Amino acid sequence: MPLIPKAVVGQVARRYIAGTTLGDAVRVVKEINSRAMMATVDLLGEDINNAGETHQVRDTIIPILHAIKENQLNSNMSIKPTQLGLRIDKELCYRNIRAIVDEARKLGNFIRIDMEDANTTEGTFEIYRRLRREGVVNAGVVIQAYLHRSEADVRALVKEGANFRLCKGIYNESPAIAFKGRQEIRNNFLKLLQIILEGGSYVGIATHDDYLIDGALKFIRRLGLDRAKYEFQMLLGVRETRRNEIVRDGHRLRVYVPYGEQWYAYSTRRLKENPYMAWYITKALFVR
Ligand code: FDA
Repeated sequence: MPLIPKAVVGQVARRYIAGTTLGDAVRVVKEINSRAMMATVDLLGEDINNAGETHQVRDTIIPILHAIKENQLNSNMSIKPTQLGLRIDKELCYRNIRAIVDEARKLGNFIRIDMEDANTTEGTFEIYRRLRREGVVNAGVVIQAYLHRSEADVRALVKEGANFRLCKGIYNESPAIAFKGRQEIRNNFLKLLQIILEGGSYVGIATHDDYLIDGALKFIRRLGLDRAKYEFQMLLGVRETRRNEIVRDGHRLRVYVPYGEQWYAYSTRRLKENPYMAWYITKALFVR
């Protein structure tokens, strides 16, 4: 992937990103809402190593919450701790996240704190737990099914009444701490989902994998779960046919809508997951 020219990555990755401006994000969320789907807006960017820049990110995220309100969008927001200072200073990151969550609460909105690589797991949970202890209820965490630690995290967080997004996990972690096999990650995903659902916590089931979607639907039917207790989540530009079927069958679904100038790292992750990537790249290089 590093050998592929940035312009080519940009061209192929366009389907995964709303655009570079807030106006682009608003337009795409409106379109998603018109198809009876919810959204979560993500301002692209991560791994910021300068405190001043983290404040700029915070001050860019807060107007997005206002735009969601003003445009009456059915959307919450996803944020990344390392774009808000987690790699610099946990206290700085907490303060930035707290400011965003407080503004979201005033506007009746919700903030999902994305989970990044394993160096950030503990710090991210610490910040989430601190918010919860302080009475914050409009924020949620993400659990990565590939991490060995996740079962213990889920069991503890269910007791604490956490709000979850459950996903497989996207970072390249060591086998010492993470499951690496496709099926063992799936098995753990369903095990964690069962613990969350039986524990009565709210969960965003974030996957495009039919095996997991079908497994989740089985649990939902068996438990006779009300549709307000869970939602499916998918990324913009991925598996749109399956997305439509889930909504047609009466389930709630949220689309992750990333936008911004910092699109490169996100795009390369998506392209690596795309089974047709080699073909798309070739086409982008040669077909004009
Ligand atoms: P898998 O990758 O096996 O995909 C299943 C099928 O979906 C593929 O066979 C293919 O057909 C299709 N597909 C998947 N990705 C595609 C792509 N990019 N282009 C085209 N087709 C594709 N991770 C993380 O570590 N922290 C986080 O906070 C989040 N947050 C998050 C939010 C949401 C809403 C989603 C959907 C995902 C995340 N993830 C994440 C990413 C997640 O961990 C995982 O890497 C991806 O969802 C891919 O895993 P799947 O479960 O979709 O299976």
